[in-house]
Amino acid sequence: MVTVNTFKENKGKKKMTMLTAYDYLTAKNMDEAGIDSILVGDSLGMVMLGYKDTLKVTVDDMIHHGAAVVRGVTNTFVVVDMPFMSYQVSKEEAVRNAGRIMKETGCQAVKIEGPYFEEIKAIVKAGIPVVGHLGLTPQSVNQMGGYKVQGKNKEAALKLINDCKKLEEAGCFAITLECVPRRIAEYITKNLSISTIGIGASNECDCQVLVWQDMLSLSDGPKAKFVKEFANLHDVEISAFKKYKEEVENMTYPEDKHTYKIDDETYNEVLNDLKENN
Ligand code: KIV
Repeated sequence: MVTVNTFKENKGKKKMTMLTAYDYLTAKNMDEAGIDSILVGDSLGMVMLGYKDTLKVTVDDMIHHGAAVVRGVTNTFVVVDMPFMSYQVSKEEAVRNAGRIMKETGCQAVKIEGPYFEEIKAIVKAGIPVVGHLGLTPQSVNQMGGYKVQGKNKEAALKLINDCKKLEEAGCFAITLECVPRRIAEYITKNLSISTIGIGASNECDCQVLVWQDMLSLSDGPKAKFVKEFANLHDVEISAFKKYKEEVENMTYPEDKHTYKIDDETYNEVLNDLKENN
């Protein structure tokens, strides 16, 4: 079973895997495939609920999907995102919401975007493991003016490196680095004792994470540079849906083997009864 200790033990020795999931069956399949960790990301707002960004996602949404994912796993470590405005207002609110997420989902850790050092310290003090998240932080999309690579100029790179150090000091056991140049991700990974989890941050990171709908091409929309298509489920789904429609319309589905039977004697009794009562 993967725990926070697995991240420590594997640091610098063995690369780890994380994928997002938002439902029971996907989580179960990832567990069966040996994926080390699942992130119930607030990206669910976009890929599951159809919002234009992650800002509308609520603590209740995260709990609903997080609990389903936890029901699907036996070995895989589950991290649940804390959504926008569930930790920014005060340390008290941050601890209360992290506690609710952990209690009501059964997950092993929460993830927080941005340099919220005091809030993270308070959550860690309550016994809840925290993954930090720096670089591109989608909850701040309006402040960043879009989804862009971060840490590309001197000031931004230095701030990113410094903030990572502070997240480590605040008690995070891992940090997600999103859309960060390779050499900055490498520097951070080599200079922290905790794991880095990269998404668009190169193979220098200790662990990789991808959104599962992206890596399986469930949508035919545009993809970020860092996404690799490991399978194309969009094309598989569209062709299956079209085949289903065609077969229902021309009555080649359902076939006899998909159909339940009633014996002749019972059926005749039903017909006789109907006749007698009409
Ligand atoms: O919400 C999410 O899926 C994430 C990943 C992109 C790291 O935070």
